Amino acid sequence: MKKNSLFDSFILGSQQLNNRVIMSPMTRTRSSAGDEPNALTAKYYGQRASAGLIITEAVNIAPHGKGYLWTPGIYTTGQIEGWRHVTDQVHDNGGKIFAQIWHVGRMSHVSMMPGGEAPWGVTNEQAVGWDVFAHDEHGKLTFVPASVPRELRTDEIPGLVNDFRNAFKNMKEVGFDGVELHAANGYIFEQFMNATLNTRTDHYGGQTVGGRLRFTLEVVDAAIEVLGAGNVGVRLSPFGTYNGIPDSDLMEETYFALIHELQNRGIGYIHLVYELLPKGNIEQAVFENETLPVKLLKRTRDIFKGAIIWCGGFNQEKAQDALDTGLVDLIAFGRPFIANPDLVERFRHKWPIAVADRSAFYTRNGEVGYTDFPFYNAG
Ligand SMILES: Cc1cc2nc3c(=O)[nH]c(=O)nc-3n(C[C@H](O)[C@H](O)[C@H](O)COP(=O)(O)O)c2cc1C
Repeated sequence: MKKNSLFDSFILGSQQLNNRVIMSPMTRTRSSAGDEPNALTAKYYGQRASAGLIITEAVNIAPHGKGYLWTPGIYTTGQIEGWRHVTDQVHDNGGKIFAQIWHVGRMSHVSMMPGGEAPWGVTNEQAVGWDVFAHDEHGKLTFVPASVPRELRTDEIPGLVNDFRNAFKNMKEVGFDGVELHAANGYIFEQFMNATLNTRTDHYGGQTVGGRLRFTLEVVDAAIEVLGAGNVGVRLSPFGTYNGIPDSDLMEETYFALIHELQNRGIGYIHLVYELLPKGNIEQAVFENETLPVKLLKRTRDIFKGAIIWCGGFNQEKAQDALDTGLVDLIAFGRPFIANPDLVERFRHKWPIAVADRSAFYTRNGEVGYTDFPFYNAG
């Protein structure tokens, strides 16, 4: 059987991707005043349009969903117009672009919240030991502990779902090809889905799997309603503990129940971020030395018939090995896309891959470390 190459096209929902190299979502904290994407944002994504699909940095649905300074929103006129330039630039360069959307839930700080209110929590339990980047009480920019959140009242949740719905409408309006829900890494969706953290006693509560999944599925349904199921993806980090997500014996049950629900709804893709790759050859890892993540992937593949994207620590060789297993369809690359706007062409021609210094990830210095990484010059 012919194996798929990273450079083969792929049908995702109703669209054709030019290749299977996906740009994974990366917060770059470079938005302008009013959390607006700007001309550099458009240039940055436009430069990377040869990716099979770009998934943007996480985008805020409302001021109360923000947990990091200078992250873009999609709820004001200025923000919406800023994104229109981004999607135009990517489409003009022949690419496809989904927006990643999030609400940080408890992972915020009072200095960033509207009116200095407490972050919105699934419960009022603080993410102890986890910091966010914000202004301290002296107005100094630094890492500060995530604030004690306020437990959302049940009657506030439909409004929150509606904020997501409005964001989806704005995304459609500015020409995004689809949306990815950021249900990984300990933000609001994971906060609801975790049985240990979610001690709510209402019908969004963690005692039942239906309660744990209710909020996430309501938002998924709103996305489907606005954008169509094939244009919706969900990012998950099963068994992740980032941002203080506690251990739970029910993680596997919750995860597979969610995958079944997503399959029933026919969404376009599931995007798994997990450092699944053991050292060496992925086929060996799958077939001779089956690790928990690989089992997870196999069962996911059995249940879910849409596309599966896998992300985390890939280089070209490991990515091709992963595709060869047949367990995943698309590979997402994060850090390699920072310093290589032409990553796909570099892979194709075996040109050297540049490595971005960590200091470039979140600096706010105009083009430096953002749009000034050159395309490879083969000449
Ligand atoms: C600077 C930076 C910002 C990131 N921001 C996000 C984000 O906004 N949303 C998200 O889901 N993951 C985010 N991630 C995680 C990446 O999407 C990816 O999962 C991770 O970097 C592992 O992939 P890699 O080894 O190819 O870099 C970020 C990673 C980096 C390096």
